[in-house]
Amino acid sequence: MIELRVVDRAYGVVLSELHRECFPDGWGVASMDEVLRSPGVYAILAADGEAAAGLALGRRVADEAELLTVGVAPAFRRRGLGFALVRAVASVVPLARKLHLEVAADNPPALTLYRMMGFEQVGRRKDYYRRLDGRLVDALTFAIEPRKIAAVA
Ligand SMILES: CC(C)(COP(=O)(O)OP(=O)(O)OC[C@H]1O[C@@H](n2cnc3c(N)ncnc32)[C@H](O)[C@@H]1OP(=O)(O)O)[C@@H](O)C(=O)NCCC(=O)NCCS
Repeated sequence: MIELRVVDRAYGVVLSELHRECFPDGWGVASMDEVLRSPGVYAILAADGEAAAGLALGRRVADEAELLTVGVAPAFRRRGLGFALVRAVASVVPLARKLHLEVAADNPPALTLYRMMGFEQVGRRKDYYRRLDGRLVDALTFAIEPRKIAAVA
């Protein structure tokens, strides 16, 4: 059974390995540790026994919250885990006014996930991401009131 739980910096290596499994330019151990030490940051790990299945990092600043990253290991995708991880990030900050995120315009799986959860697009940052091959891709910014995610689930 897959379990989600809030984890601390002690899981930095596990989170970094998982992040690199999910993203071509995933965060190394030092980068992951730096993020985990930032004020207001919290991490959620999804595990199937010993196997790390997914991660999500959020940040709370005053009454706003941000989804910093979410990733599900390829073998665990399309089972609702991405949805569950984003919902878990929102449930840690139930009093936050808004949960924000940004996503690459060329990432249909993530765009579909966020839209089906009820996130609404609030902006676009032109040429925000630079891919490993040098290609520039726009970032789309989305937001939702955390309590509305629960209503969708
Ligand atoms: C995006 C990601 C987190 C989704 O994780 P997941 O566990 O597969 O997502 P879920 O199973 O919760 O999917 C929920 C819904 O999102 C949509 N979705 C997810 N993956 C999709 C895909 N590959 N193609 C189309 N729709 C997709 C579907 O509507 C899906 O519902 P359905 O399976 O009933 O059709 C995962 O693909 C991933 O880790 N990708 C690489 C990292 C990444 O891009 N992260 C987001 C950065 S902003």
